[in-house]
Amino acid sequence: MVIKIAGTGRAVPSTRVSNKELAEQIDTSDEWIRSHTGIGARHIAPETISVSDLAVEAARGALKLAVERAEVGETDPEKLAETLDFIVLGTTTQDYYGCPPTCCLVQHQLGAKKAAAMDLAAACSSFIYSIETAAALLLADPRRKRALVIGAETLSRITNWNDRGTCVLFGDGAGAVFLEKQDGKQEEPGEAVSSGRRGLLRTILGADGSGWENLIIRRGGSRNPWKPGETVDIPPHVEMNGHAVYNFAVKVITETIEQFMEEESLTIHDIARIIPHQANARIIQAAGKRLKIPEEKFYLNMEEYANTSSASIPIALDELNRSGQLRRGDLIITVGFGGGLTYGGNLIRW
Ligand code: COA
Repeated sequence: MVIKIAGTGRAVPSTRVSNKELAEQIDTSDEWIRSHTGIGARHIAPETISVSDLAVEAARGALKLAVERAEVGETDPEKLAETLDFIVLGTTTQDYYGCPPTCCLVQHQLGAKKAAAMDLAAACSSFIYSIETAAALLLADPRRKRALVIGAETLSRITNWNDRGTCVLFGDGAGAVFLEKQDGKQEEPGEAVSSGRRGLLRTILGADGSGWENLIIRRGGSRNPWKPGETVDIPPHVEMNGHAVYNFAVKVITETIEQFMEEESLTIHDIARIIPHQANARIIQAAGKRLKIPEEKFYLNMEEYANTSSASIPIALDELNRSGQLRRGDLIITVGFGGGLTYGGNLIRW
């Protein structure tokens, strides 16, 4: 059995905030943000839009594309949603704190009546973790056939807009992929690429919990709950040790790509595109330099969207897919990192 990506979708709020506009509110500049991160703008969800709304829009896009491109034997995206076996939503910014899982709101809105639904929290690595989780669940039971994997975030809601060290980095958005299990042979490790089969070939996942404090929302959880009568100056927000995260990111991106190359006997010429988590162009440039991989191999869109955490890789996948930049048979690598600290990558034949 093989796991094929049969549709992609994305949702990005229409409100766009450029670096220049941000610099009117805090002590920063377009020049500093661009030169240190490669970011030029971010999209921010209005108060009326939550993570589940963005997730549903991206999911509907993926279902519609799967139908339009005749990738599945259905002609109606709504009927296709009814056939889903489960939905996995990667997010750090749920609609409601802890309960209910945001994915259940998504399941309800999509009319995916028979789908089980779960949220997965691995910070910015959530999409990479989620697609592997969905694939494993599909392969675990012959009765399961179809799944949706979504990465969606409203990071603007957990951003301290007075902290120039973090607020320039983040944006809101969602991306989704529709997965279908199809007939085919599951190879031994090391054979996935040589077999020529399409779909999700293999995944690398990892975590280094010793770095838990380097990217953190300190208040609101069971360690530091809000107390009755306490005055809140700033809502729960992300704090970051930028240098530590930067060094970790360059290391794990380099190692993950190297591991795929070595274990699957690949050269960079075999890879059509690398789709990294869109946190900082300098991180990608540093990893590319270490690996001697030309910059053009990496697909970057943080200039427009900034870092949308779990949404960044599926948004990029959808952009590449819809613009015809992915051809049937192309080998692609996704690679990412995030709070936890977590990291990972997927090797996919399109
Ligand atoms: N605008 C203007 N100046 C800024 C600024 C901003 N938005 N943010 C920080 N600065 C200033 C600092 O105050 C510092 O000034 P000082 O030298 O007078 O103290 C100076 O710029 C350099 O700060 P520094 O933190 O050393 O910058 P940096 O080159 O390390 O870049 C990050 C900072 C955050 C861009 C970088 O560390 C990074 O990208 N880290 C990884 C973050 C990440 O990917 N997070 C998401 C993980 S999923």
